[in-house]
Amino acid sequence: MDNKRKVGIVGSGLIGGSWAMLFTAAGFKVYMYDIDDKLVADALKDIQRQLQNLEKIGMLRGSDAADVQFSGISGGTSLEECVRGSVYVQECVPEQLSLKRKVFEQLDAVLDDATIVASSTSTMVPSTFMSGLKHAQNCLVSHPVNPPYFVPAVEIVPSPWTSEAVVSKTEDIMTEIGQEPIVFKKEHPGFGLNRIQYSILNECYHLIKDGVLSADGVDKLMKFGLGPRYAWMGPLETAVLNAEGMRSYLERYSHIMHSVSADLKGPADWSLPAAEPIIQQLDQLFPLDKLKERRQWRDERLIAFAALRDQMKRK
Ligand code: NAI
Repeated sequence: MDNKRKVGIVGSGLIGGSWAMLFTAAGFKVYMYDIDDKLVADALKDIQRQLQNLEKIGMLRGSDAADVQFSGISGGTSLEECVRGSVYVQECVPEQLSLKRKVFEQLDAVLDDATIVASSTSTMVPSTFMSGLKHAQNCLVSHPVNPPYFVPAVEIVPSPWTSEAVVSKTEDIMTEIGQEPIVFKKEHPGFGLNRIQYSILNECYHLIKDGVLSADGVDKLMKFGLGPRYAWMGPLETAVLNAEGMRSYLERYSHIMHSVSADLKGPADWSLPAAEPIIQQLDQLFPLDKLKERRQWRDERLIAFAALRDQMKRK
């Protein structure tokens, strides 16, 4: 008898496919739902190709061979079948509030009390689309970071109605599939990752717009300066290690932090045409017709980095 636990994936696009690969690698049975059979068939084909490729380069997660992992994933257009018997369902539909709301209402109608439903939303606080659901205590956000196969963080964000047991079970499931859950105490606009990311982007914008640095200069500062440190430790540990602990760091640098921070300009004007000069620099640095190759370049580096991190963990 097949006693694998089942998970459902709702939406078979980029993120839905990634979740399916993570779950099957950890030994779950996966049912991937979408609104059209062709979308599911294409997603399955793409997942099979990716799993075979990862096996070839020695980066397949889990202990089963690629074809075994692939055989653990099925899919179709029945939401009931997706949810039935699933311990966990991951919603991965496009980032539109009305659509998230509609899909959560459809899920609510077929859910039972034992199934957790998590949204992959990158930006929407859960209460904006989970209010009034019969099973609101079972619903929350599990926000992955792209590409989730190589970037392990998952932001676990409860709504005001999510039960503590559901948060803790979701944390356990994420850990079991090899991700790094970061549990929020409450919902907050932009969660954590995008709040930090947007504050960085705003400062990048001002440095370029004020003629202080080129776009290339800004990216170099991150990839050769902050990036290598942040790849291994957070900004807080970085500060601790740059002095004799945080107290000592603040004794040395808090006055500088205050004076530079007072000069920060806050939200940038990302609308068009205000952001046009930045777009033009970036279009030159990264031509739009070469983005596919550049994404491949990015993934190769993230794969190599994930391998290095695993190797260092074992030491
Ligand atoms: P996508 O556009 O690649 O895939 C969305 C899928 O949902 C498509 O296959 C579409 O057919 C399907 N869909 C549309 N309406 C549906 C419905 N009513 N029921 C079921 N399926 C439906 O989008 P992507 O990039 O996979 O994003 C999905 C979610 O993940 C979004 O909320 C996004 O913000 C979030 N996310 C995306 C990241 C990224 O880098 N792309 C990173 C982290 C989170």
